[in-house]
Amino acid sequence: MSLLNVNKEKCIHCGICAQVCPKNYIEMNKEKFPVDAGLTCISCGHCVAICPQAALNHVQAPLSEQVLLDATPVFDTETAERFLRSRRSVRVYKENKVTKDQILKLLNIARLAPSGNNSQGVQYMVVNNKKTLRAITKATIAWMDEAIAAKEVSAVNYIEMSEHYHKTGEDVILRNAPSFILALSDKNFTRGRDNTHFALAYAELFAPSLGLGTCWTGIVETCARSGYQPLIQLLDIPENLTVTGGIIVGYPKYSFRRLVKRSPLIVTWHQLCDSNEF
Ligand SMILES: Cc1cc2nc3c(=O)[nH]c(=O)nc-3n(C[C@H](O)[C@H](O)[C@H](O)COP(=O)(O)O)c2cc1C
Repeated sequence: MSLLNVNKEKCIHCGICAQVCPKNYIEMNKEKFPVDAGLTCISCGHCVAICPQAALNHVQAPLSEQVLLDATPVFDTETAERFLRSRRSVRVYKENKVTKDQILKLLNIARLAPSGNNSQGVQYMVVNNKKTLRAITKATIAWMDEAIAAKEVSAVNYIEMSEHYHKTGEDVILRNAPSFILALSDKNFTRGRDNTHFALAYAELFAPSLGLGTCWTGIVETCARSGYQPLIQLLDIPENLTVTGGIIVGYPKYSFRRLVKRSPLIVTWHQLCDSNEF
């Protein structure tokens, strides 16, 4: 059964829906109406979103659920650059709890990130109980210490952090953040990590608009992915799911005042590049 429904009175036969379809699922028939070409549709909703006449409906990307976008808001270059460059990892937070409503606002943007074949498939677990947060840090440090004791190659990066934790008791893992968001995907879902990275990047970029700051928790992810049982049990992760990423979230105690430098840009132009284009 076709997923498309065309309003023949409204359709102007422009064929834009077919042009933007990433999977060639749409073709124009003899009467120049869009029809299902019998291929696989990934339900990205491009066809419905781009139709200038609102003439197209799609079972899995209904027109009624698409928000009207009058004019694509494009930041001017300087604003866009400043917005992107001002995103920084936040590791010092105020005590304030982050409300459920704020977390949901953040994750509702995260889930709109691009994903391979529009597969999405990332879900989240939110931890905000102080005792549990401290226990996660403790378990992660214990895992690091085991790796250090076993002289694992990757453990070199953990030595200073673990020593600092044992010396000061400071939460070097979850940074005393009031909330920790874990991303989870089905164990057999090969795109889980990729999709998570884009989703969490969206969350990071959106966070300041909610007054929030974030920081990735790659070490906790690595610990969980290694199958370290004390952490897995503490998080109570369902058997069919695996940890694909995580971020801490809270209200930043300080604000950054400057934009930093990064490593220099490395670009090579393929030898067949047309030099006249530059
Ligand atoms: C995949 C990934 C994992 C990360 N894991 C950690 C982590 O475990 N702990 C931490 O403090 N920062 C972590 N970070 C943050 C990086 O250290 C940070 O992005 C980098 O130093 C650049 O700083 P900026 O994010 O403020 O621009 C991680 C970042 C990424 C992208």
